[in-house]
Amino acid sequence: MKSILAIYPGSFDPVTNGHLDLIERGTKMFDRLVVAVLQNLEKDPLFSVSERVAMLREATRPWPNVEVDIFDGLLVEYARRKKAQVILRGIRAISDYEYELQMALMNRKLEPGIETVFMMPAQAYSYLSSRLVKEIARLGGAVEGLVPTAVAERLKIKIS
Ligand code: PNS
Repeated sequence: MKSILAIYPGSFDPVTNGHLDLIERGTKMFDRLVVAVLQNLEKDPLFSVSERVAMLREATRPWPNVEVDIFDGLLVEYARRKKAQVILRGIRAISDYEYELQMALMNRKLEPGIETVFMMPAQAYSYLSSRLVKEIARLGGAVEGLVPTAVAERLKIKIS
């Protein structure tokens, strides 16, 4: 039987409950899921790659078919090296769609053998983003319920 490996790429600066919702859905759909953290961010990340990976590893411990990895360079090259068949991306709202469609089609042009699959997180997370979580934390707001407890604690320490 064919075993499907999906890559779920992103910045994860930091991982939110919306990402985890999507990861959980992905674990049910694919045999293996690699959460791949982009190393070379043009934007200045709040957390280092190793901090982001540590938070993801802790948060994804309940799912034995999830692996957390780091990638750099072209996503399709990384997916090819991993022998992945699928790139998984989340779409929260129509506003995500245009950018995601452009990326998916460009990735298909670069590597026609890899399919992008879009999944929707629970509606409760449709307004959630790492960017807003960081902004709320910086301004002293409560991030509980938006990110795992360990991430909320790290945010407090990072920002204080
Ligand atoms: O969490 P993000 O920031 O929305 O994730 C964006 C990501 C990492 C998926 C995207 O920037 C990416 O794939 N970068 C790797 C470089 C690449 O392959 N660029 C061409 C995309 S068509």
